[in-house]
Amino acid sequence: MNPLLSVTGLRKSYGLVEVLKGIDFEVAAGEKIALIGPSGSGKSTCLRCLNFLEKPSAGEIHLDGERIGVSLGRQMSDRQLAPQRAEMGMVFQLFNLWPHLSVTENVAIAARKVRGLSAREAQELALEMLAKVHMTHRADASPLELSGGQQQRVAIARALAQKPKLMLFDEPTSALDPELVHEVLKVMEELAAEGRTMLIVTHEIAFARDIADRVMFLDGGTIVEQGPARDLILSPREARTQAFLKQIRH
Ligand SMILES: Nc1ncnc2c1ncn2[C@@H]1O[C@H](COP(=O)(O)OP(=O)(O)OP(=O)(O)O)[C@@H](O)[C@H]1O
Ligand SMILES: [Mg+2]
Repeated sequence: MNPLLSVTGLRKSYGLVEVLKGIDFEVAAGEKIALIGPSGSGKSTCLRCLNFLEKPSAGEIHLDGERIGVSLGRQMSDRQLAPQRAEMGMVFQLFNLWPHLSVTENVAIAARKVRGLSAREAQELALEMLAKVHMTHRADASPLELSGGQQQRVAIARALAQKPKLMLFDEPTSALDPELVHEVLKVMEELAAEGRTMLIVTHEIAFARDIADRVMFLDGGTIVEQGPARDLILSPREARTQAFLKQIRH
């Protein structure tokens, strides 16, 4: 079967500094992948290159057989890129909800803008997605009235409302107070159980072990090691992976 996402020869430099040094991987439909690695190893850059929030210096990204960011050998404009970006729902460390819009409006606006739904359809879809993240009871609230964990769940609903083929998470719990981490991880676990395709940058190693099919360890801009989640986390082969996991457990 063809992979849903394929990344080949992905490189990214900032000036003279090469941050991604040739990344290759594939993600099958329904697969859950955790991307782990030390600070500065290039995890966020890698995710941001997938949907051309950062323009790769080299390499190709294909989603569902379609080349991302380049058409007929030419770099796409932001306008051309918008529908491709919508196929990848992205959830960041910081939620960036609109403070002047209600929770529902924050979610509906994604569906209207990106999927061209009518106001009514978008509203219905928003409520459906808010139910998925257990936020129906705060549908009319302002994001400013919500806890960080609740805001992040709304941000997840917003990404889902684009009806993406792939969900990308960049450390979605690392800005949260410890007691709020669990509710966000639980929602992600439920999405995983629905069979969604997810690529998750995380420092939550136990979570990665439990929900990911595969873990990739990135260090210095290359994938040093990858494998089935339990194998890689419980018995990493490479010295660099061993050192990283040892240090993060403390
Ligand atoms: N816009 C930029 N301009 C210059 N350098 C950048 C830029 N963005 C990232 N970098 C550098 O690229 C490297 C990789 O950064 P990146 O944010 O991808 O790492 P990361 O693995 O996500 O780290 P963290 O775990 O801290 O989030 C770092 O050395 C960073 O300083
Ligand atoms: Mg990062």
